[in-house]
Formats: sequence, structure tokens, C-alpha cells
Amino acid sequence: MTPSPFPAARMRRLRRTRALREMVQEQGLSVRDLIWPVFIREGDGIEEPIPSLPGVSRLSLDGLRGAAEQAVRLGIPAVCLFPYTAPDLRTETCEEAWNPENLTNRAIRMLKAAYPELMVMTDIALDPYNANGHDGFVVNGEIVNDETVEALVRMGLAQAEAGADILGPSDMMDGRIGALRMALEAEGHRDVAILSYAAKFASGFYGPFRDAVGASGRLVGDKATYQINPANRDEALACVARDLAEGADMVMVKPGMPYLDICRAVKDRFARPTFAYQVSGEYAMLMAAAQNGWLDGDKVMFESLMSFKRAGCDGVLTYFAPRVAAALQG
Ligand code: PBG
Repeated sequence: MTPSPFPAARMRRLRRTRALREMVQEQGLSVRDLIWPVFIREGDGIEEPIPSLPGVSRLSLDGLRGAAEQAVRLGIPAVCLFPYTAPDLRTETCEEAWNPENLTNRAIRMLKAAYPELMVMTDIALDPYNANGHDGFVVNGEIVNDETVEALVRMGLAQAEAGADILGPSDMMDGRIGALRMALEAEGHRDVAILSYAAKFASGFYGPFRDAVGASGRLVGDKATYQINPANRDEALACVARDLAEGADMVMVKPGMPYLDICRAVKDRFARPTFAYQVSGEYAMLMAAAQNGWLDGDKVMFESLMSFKRAGCDGVLTYFAPRVAAALQG
């Protein structure tokens, strides 16, 4: 409805005091909306800062335990694990990805034993294990689809077996959601949820993440033959439709801030649980500017996270999770 003309309508009347502004606030950000991505590595007592992700470190499993304790204390409902794989375990055949004893699977078991109420999400893609940094097998310079899907299913089943609550296929191969869903059903993992990285774009904003998992120096070429062209909205919506039809319980748009139009379109069209990933480059930009004194860090953290809620997202994966949770609590 159009507001009455001035002066019957003065929009500033409801902005006059904080109480009024809060009373008419349309969106809210809650700690329950957050998923915290955490980088893990081998070792003991290691907390290795990632220079391109200020405030974020790779943690050995004892440190992960501490992070989980912090998540529980802050009320963050879920963590998402990303492994930094030792260089000698990165091969062209990627078998470490579905090793039941790999770092991620040991981390899942440890977390579920120590903090059963904390949800554990995982990433399904071959890049942390691949000698050439790609999400799929590379054969004669091509990223092969169907062979990769078979490997991803093995990887996802091992994670489900270890106790993961939410599986996050981030690889963008075709047919992986259906294949994974059928395999989970067949193996008795009926209640394991799939949060599909459904609308994942071939983005420049993943740079710091690739540093964090040690894929940057290894990546040969780019990911444009499997991730979505940033110019394509219809294609992104088709990917979401397809993944939901194949058995995804929740879908994700990634990156977040440059793709808020996609978030809104996904929510309006499908009305299913929708997440955005505020990716490493988005976080790094805001942190770098804040560290230079060019932006107010807390302010842009809240504003950027609120933008996802306004765009229709139910939740957000964000490296700000512990900081924003603490701020919400305080
Ligand atoms: C791997 C994966 C990526 C991210 C999450 N899973 C990087 C990529 O596709 O190259 C990026 C997350 C971030 O930038 O924070 N398949």
C-alpha cells in the first residue's frame, strides 16, 4: 500500500526512538540462524592463523573441541567442518576422501561423542583431497561427472556413518543429490539431512577459503565447467529445482552478498529452507576494511547478516558466527 501524502505520512515518526524503531522492525537475526564453518588439521594444540581470513585459524582436533564447546555455550546450533589435508594424502584418485578414519570423520565422531546436541555439517567435494585442487576427478584435463558422483557418494556415506547430521555437497556435479539420497536410504541413514550447495557460482570470492584448505597453489585452471556462471539467474533456479526434486532437504546460495537476488528468488519460488553462505572473500573484505579503520566491523557484520534475512534466507553460514553470537548474547 502507498503511504498517504505528506504530512499525513511522516515516515520519520516511527524512527524517532529506539523503542519505536525496534517495535516496527521487520526482520530479526538470531543465533539459531547460524552455521559456523571451521577449518581443521592434524596435530595437537595447533591453532594456525589463516592470513587471508583474519581471526580464523585451522584447529587441531583438541582446538575443535574447544570451538564446539564455545558454539554450545553461545547457542550456535551447527558447525561445518572443512579439512586441511596433509600434502602426502592429496592424490589424483582422492581415496582419502572416503577413508572412514580421515580427519573429518574422526572429527565428526569426536564432536558427536562430546556434544551430541551440536549439529555437525560436512562438505562433500574432492578438493581438499585432490592433487590438482578440483572438486571432481580430472581425466585428460576434464572434470569427469559420473565417476566423481560415485566417489562423492562414498565420501558422504562415510560421513553419515561417522555421525554427521547434515551433508553439504558443494561440488556442483550433476546427479549427485539423487545418488547420495538413494545411497543414504539404502544404507539406513534415513534421517541424515542434505543441505545442497544448489546455486553455487564460479566466484572469485572463494580465494581465502582455498588458502585455508591448501587448494590455492594446487588448483589447475578454474571451476567454470561445473560452477554456475555469475551472470545466470534462470540456471541457478533450475539447479535449485533439480536438487530439491532429487532429495535435498535444504538449499544454499553461494556466495551470499553479491547474490541476494538469487536468495530472494529461491525463497519466493520454492518456499523451502534456504541458506546463504557468506563466503571467505566476503568476510575477508569486511574484516580488512574494518582493520584499516575504514568500516565499523560490528556494524557491517550485523548489516550484512541482516541482508540475508531480508532476502528470505532462513539461515547463514558465516565466519562471523562466534562473534555475532557473542554480540547477540551480550
Ligand atoms: C569446495 C568449497 C569451496 C567453498 C566451500 N566448499 C570453494 C570452492 O568451490 O572453490 C568456499 C567457501 C568460502 O569461500 O568460504 N568445494
